[in-house]
Amino acid sequence: MTRIIRTVEEWQILRSELKYSDTLGFVPTMGALHAGHASLIKRSISENGYTVVSIFVNPTQFNNPDDLKRYPRTESEDLNQLEKLQVDYAFIPDYQSIYPDDFYYKVTENNLSLTMEGTGRPGHFDGVLTVVMKLLNIIRPTRSYFGEKDYQQYMLVKKMSEAFFMNVEVIPCPTVRDSDGLALSSRNVLLSKEDRQRAPLFAQLLQSDKTAEQVKVELQQSGFAVDYITDFEGRRYGAVYLGKVRLIDNIELKQNVS
Ligand code: PAJ
Repeated sequence: MTRIIRTVEEWQILRSELKYSDTLGFVPTMGALHAGHASLIKRSISENGYTVVSIFVNPTQFNNPDDLKRYPRTESEDLNQLEKLQVDYAFIPDYQSIYPDDFYYKVTENNLSLTMEGTGRPGHFDGVLTVVMKLLNIIRPTRSYFGEKDYQQYMLVKKMSEAFFMNVEVIPCPTVRDSDGLALSSRNVLLSKEDRQRAPLFAQLLQSDKTAEQVKVELQQSGFAVDYITDFEGRRYGAVYLGKVRLIDNIELKQNVS
């Protein structure tokens, strides 16, 4: 049985009952769970004595109010999935539990967070890093799992854990894709039928041997609004819009492409 916890206090009691030698894996999510989330959860279960998954649609990381409003919320389906995966604990707090300070305190990174996703979505990573710091402080896991699908987020969280001497191992997990190559994302369900058919071209072009500029031009010619295609430290990152839906992806660059 997956035990549902909705308050910080309730979790803190359960946490204090775990033995010092028990390992605890943590997978933070915003719900609308899919096979990408499931891969992180399975990894956590295989590496830890207990696993906790949080579901919290974090308003402070949405710079666009419409995006927050549209974000899919599927709590009962999510709980069914957690049950099937045999997750021990689901932590599902409300806004007041996580933000008693009303976001007057925040974690700001002033380098990597200002590029790529940070350029198109000002303040986004302040929201992400703040909520992840809060969740890690509440849950106190041994290990925490993040998807490479959001590689910039993974790097920022990892470096935050080092900068603040946080006692947690931050573990990256490979991107899970649909059979046509599109990276799984909770936002994919918001795509129109036509845009869903067009979407895999984003992953295909990102993985091609073309230059970042060529990829950008070809995506634009195919009806994508391109936010950025950027090569950085051996990876290629991209963000595009299909209609109002923003898609992001990244891949490791082959040696011969810089
Ligand atoms: P969310 O988008 O729900 O993603 C939760 C975790 O699942 C993240 O670590 C994300 O990278 C991973 N993930 C999503 N799609 C994936 C895929 N196709 N393959 C592999 N992993 C995937 O990311 C967030 O929530 C939030 O920013 C959060 C960290 C919870 C803070 O609010």
